[in-house]
Amino acid sequence: MNIGILISGRGSNMIAIADAVESGEIGGSEVAVVISDKSDAAGLGKARERGIKTSVIERNGRTREEHDAEIIAELRKNEVELVCLAGYMRLLSAGFIRSYPNRIVNIHPSLLPSFRGLDAQKQAIEYGVKVSGCTVHFVDEDLDNGAIILQRTVEVLDDDTAETLSARILEQEHAAYVEAVRRIAARDLWINGRRTVLIAEA
Ligand code: GRF
Repeated sequence: MNIGILISGRGSNMIAIADAVESGEIGGSEVAVVISDKSDAAGLGKARERGIKTSVIERNGRTREEHDAEIIAELRKNEVELVCLAGYMRLLSAGFIRSYPNRIVNIHPSLLPSFRGLDAQKQAIEYGVKVSGCTVHFVDEDLDNGAIILQRTVEVLDDDTAETLSARILEQEHAAYVEAVRRIAARDLWINGRRTVLIAEA
């Protein structure tokens, strides 16, 4: 399975996926391209160091549709079959989502549907929840909304700050994203409306 990863920044989830592909943990897969909408994304250098093809496609004042069309063209050129959003900070257009039906996944640092959007870890602390975590989900047209593939929980400690909680959630994100992509690559997953079911466990 050819994987395309979209980033805007640090790229630690991208690296987790790339390392799992490299070690054979995600069988029969390859990271075909890493695309960033920001030329200064730190993840770009890390991808290049690993010999992964990178591409920068900035918005440059274009509409979302025009920008997305260029990204789709780059994904197609690299024969990408699964698109992983990994800290990609832009909403996708409806056209993008239609181009890859059930083939775009995202990771979010909360237990969805709680704390959608930006600063999910800060939102969790401010709300006072005792447990948070991360969610890997398919992407649909609404923000942080598509069918959930898997979630991992993280306890919120009394002395946590947004930074300390984020760091513990991030560790779980890396494991969760690798596991989700592994299942998709193994065609181990069945989607039934909002519910995804592990075929092995169905
Ligand atoms: C992660 O917390 C992810 O859940 C969120 O953005 C952050 C990206 O981190 N969507 P990284 O770029 O993968 O290190």
